[in-house]
Amino acid sequence: MKKWFAVIGDPIHHSKSPEMHHFWYDDLQEDAAYVPIHVTPDTLEQAVTSMKVLGISGWNVTIPHKEAIIPFLDELDEQAKHMGAVNTVVRQADGTLKGYNTDGLGFVRSLEEAVGTNEKNRALLLIGAGGAARGIAFALVASGYTNITIANRTVEKAQAIIQELGVGQACSLVEAGEQLAQYGILVQTTSAGLNDAFSMPFSLDHLAAHAIVADIVYNPLMTPFLEAAQQKGATIVTGVGMFVHQGAIAYEHWLQKTPNTNAMIARITQQLG
Ligand code: ATR
Repeated sequence: MKKWFAVIGDPIHHSKSPEMHHFWYDDLQEDAAYVPIHVTPDTLEQAVTSMKVLGISGWNVTIPHKEAIIPFLDELDEQAKHMGAVNTVVRQADGTLKGYNTDGLGFVRSLEEAVGTNEKNRALLLIGAGGAARGIAFALVASGYTNITIANRTVEKAQAIIQELGVGQACSLVEAGEQLAQYGILVQTTSAGLNDAFSMPFSLDHLAAHAIVADIVYNPLMTPFLEAAQQKGATIVTGVGMFVHQGAIAYEHWLQKTPNTNAMIARITQQLG
């Protein structure tokens, strides 16, 4: 019998998830379909009830519902509980709904695919302290990255995450910019630069030689931050890998198979490049 999957969000028309999952269904000969559903905040509870009644096998959750959906789920995975956000819902055999968060681990897989697994001891600077940074911070620590500094415009938010993590330190964007030479890995998660193509969280003048610089934004592929880092000779990790890997981990939860991430990353990179 065909299995049904979905992604809910507001807005939702721009999502590349349906195309990605259908590519994998074809590749792995899965009898499944994945649809985008526009769900506004005021209809979220009804939407979850409807999906449950209809027997949808699982769905992704995107902005602005990642936190708001939690009260409507029956169970939460440990990581999602820590992060306080869900991006993947699994309908379990007994019909109950379990929430996961695959964003953070998706980032770690993308980083390690690009630079290997031997960089865990390098000083890592996480820029931003919003929902995305939070998920990535927990996944990094769970994966063995403990030399973490979180820099944020509002330092208190960075301090709050560090306190929950139990490792690392917090600082301002200005301090991070001044101390940049000491970091081997930079992870850019702020929305600075998304609306204003020329705004960056800080200058990369003091970037270390051989630094690894990642951004979680994948459209545009090359953010102003990555452009500047590339000019400095850094190894670049675009946001496409994180997007594809978060989807692949969701796929694994739903269908217990590992989809082809390399082909998908190449395809989206080509589309956006
Ligand atoms: P997301 O879920 O994508 O992480 P968010 O929770 O709204 O989004 O977090 C946005 C992040 O971008 C925050 O770290 C925010 O800094 P503040 O906590 O100080 O608000 C950061 N941010 C947004 N615009 C910024 C700007 N112009 N300069 C620097 N940081 C900015």
